[in-house]
Amino acid sequence: MFESLQSVPADPILKLAAMHREDTNPNKVDLGLGVYKDEQGHTPIMRAVDVAEQRLLQTEDTKTYVGMAGWARYNQLIADVVLGENNAITAAGRLAIAQTPGGTGALRVICDFINAAKPGAKVWVGKPTWANHHAIIDNAGLTLDEFPYFDATTHSVDFDAMMAKLRSDAQAGDIVLLHGCCHNPSGADLNLDQWQAVAELAKQKGLIPFIDIAYQGMGDGMEEDAAGLRIVAKTVDEMVIASSCSKNFGLYRERTGTALVITNNADTATIAQGQMNGVIRGNYSMPPSHGALIVQTILDDAELKADWLAELAEVRERIARLRGELVQALNDAGIERDFSFIERQKGMFSFLGVDKDQVNSLVNNHSVYLVGSSRINVAGLNDNNMAAFAKAVAAIL
Ligand code: LMR
Repeated sequence: MFESLQSVPADPILKLAAMHREDTNPNKVDLGLGVYKDEQGHTPIMRAVDVAEQRLLQTEDTKTYVGMAGWARYNQLIADVVLGENNAITAAGRLAIAQTPGGTGALRVICDFINAAKPGAKVWVGKPTWANHHAIIDNAGLTLDEFPYFDATTHSVDFDAMMAKLRSDAQAGDIVLLHGCCHNPSGADLNLDQWQAVAELAKQKGLIPFIDIAYQGMGDGMEEDAAGLRIVAKTVDEMVIASSCSKNFGLYRERTGTALVITNNADTATIAQGQMNGVIRGNYSMPPSHGALIVQTILDDAELKADWLAELAEVRERIARLRGELVQALNDAGIERDFSFIERQKGMFSFLGVDKDQVNSLVNNHSVYLVGSSRINVAGLNDNNMAAFAKAVAAIL
């Protein structure tokens, strides 16, 4: 039976890590997979994570199951991180929440949950969006449609086109998937007025906002990066959120994320929690424990939390500095094209804005690894590779 299987193309993002690993060029540059890297090109374990792990090693005395929704305390803490401390939604009991295997796990749990509420529901995604959104939505049996999001000529959000499409084509009960901050792949985010306008449109048309917030803290700050999401949460009655601790806690391989479902009353939240737990039980049964316990240990300890926030600020400031330095390096390489947009964008990603052949040339002739869409992970740059990267870009232009 397995002979009938069709081969599946390699994941466009994950395959880059393997290609980079196999490249023997000592000057290779990895701007592919979205992981933070320090000046040495290393993805470090954050200081607070290290301390929390050591503490857990000494105190954890069982490996018994955690339950379908994971650790209750972790979930409470993440509700505060995402929706704000003392938020009205948690207080009103309007929240169903589950710890998940990473942000991807949260996305899938939410899609399965939506499919239980409305089989085959339509999910609107921006064009472009994170490539894996398409697979997750498809695999859950939902229907996908697209609205325009990024304008490659202005290097910014085409907000008028986005709103026009949603206003004319989205129907009550449709889901609208938005990136909470640090848009992946474009780095172009909505401003707060635009968030308010989207929230009002959703309320007026009965659309369900679905916010994927995988990079909270990597743009302007933990609170600032959640501001748009919180505007939506204040405006609409129902929404869903996928949050991730992969980037802001650097816990990538520990698969630590959270699915949040906001309902319009507490009774529905109780039913939603049961549905979500059922979805989880029928899939992976329950989430891994370790990453969530690390996050819980940090957020419950004032000193560790302060140190984590300080290190996250260092990460954020370094990425912002790299954006400025990259614009300068491209200038210094004699490139006339205006790349100043890179400095205006947020988080780890920007589109270089070159075509597929030029991307292939960067990969094959210059050992510079980036996604085929020309997405670069700015955090992969450092003092050692910046000039070489700018020179390679100059060569392919
Ligand atoms: C990325 O977009 O590179 C990250 O979110 C990692 C991934 O799983 O694709």
